[in-house]
Amino acid sequence: MLVTNKELMDAAREGGYAVGAFNINNMEFVQAITDAAEKLKSPAILAVSQGAIKYAGFQNIVSLVRSASDTKDIKVSLHLDHGKDMDIIRTCIDGGFTSIMIDGSDLSFDENIAITKKVVDMARPKGISVEGELGRLAGIEDHVSVAEKDAIYTNPDEAVEFVEKSGVDSLAVAIGTSHGAYKFKAEARLAMDILSSIVEKVDVPLVLHGASGVNQAHVGIANEFGAALKDTKGVPDEAISEAVRRGICKVNIDTDMRIAFTAFIRQSFSENPGVFDPRGYLGAARDAIREVVTYKMKLFGSEGKAV
Ligand code: G3H
Ligand code: 13P
Ligand code: ZN
Repeated sequence: MLVTNKELMDAAREGGYAVGAFNINNMEFVQAITDAAEKLKSPAILAVSQGAIKYAGFQNIVSLVRSASDTKDIKVSLHLDHGKDMDIIRTCIDGGFTSIMIDGSDLSFDENIAITKKVVDMARPKGISVEGELGRLAGIEDHVSVAEKDAIYTNPDEAVEFVEKSGVDSLAVAIGTSHGAYKFKAEARLAMDILSSIVEKVDVPLVLHGASGVNQAHVGIANEFGAALKDTKGVPDEAISEAVRRGICKVNIDTDMRIAFTAFIRQSFSENPGVFDPRGYLGAARDAIREVVTYKMKLFGSEGKAV
């Protein structure tokens, strides 16, 4: 049985750890993440973007997750990541998802509240949880002015109003992270004071997007075997631990798995030029994803919490 993000995140908040939300696009990712979850007895959120639905096909992605949850001893949710299109959101609500993110972060404050509340009203009667987002997930450079930072980071008082008026079950906050492999030009720094202020004022569990660490060993392997990933920088493990200590209950990871998958496929191609059975190189890449996810679950403190 799939569970909701609310169930997973409320337990995480109570227990002082975070649940990893891992993006999936194909069978290998679902297998790797759910294998790690089962082995570590860790909860996990299987996050599906609108792009993933387009790539894999809606029924395929739902069936992959349902079959993993039916055949393994795991506690996982099926979550729409960065939902923006109301037709897709409706399809997910009606089609087996247990959690929806409505991302209105590029709208005005009032429009964001209105669309988020609309999704809450659609999802709640079906017992599906909803995540909203407030603030902009843009990397913050050292030279950016205080006024510019204010426009990007989540404002704690606005967060209170947003949660109250929209009725969301959880809130994604902007404290200096961004998506992808190029998060910081200078020192990697998160606005921990703002995070603590939001935690103090807001009554729902909080989410950190753009949380990949961008493992330099994996970037090195990818580059050694032909990739051109230059000046990559992610969120250091210590910053993730600190954010979880301060109250982050869901940590989103995609880039770290993408880089590992790519690095090990490249290595496999290079070292076994005569092999053209996809199970060879996809198997190696799947093993790498399982290791990345295992590492993250330990970092987030969710090992042993799927009880
Ligand atoms: O935050 C976005 C996730 O990394 C998913 O990316 O929209 O390219 O599937 P995507
Ligand atoms: P990364 O790009 O840091 O992995 O973030 C993923 C994410 O936030 C998915 O919603
Ligand atoms: Zn995200």
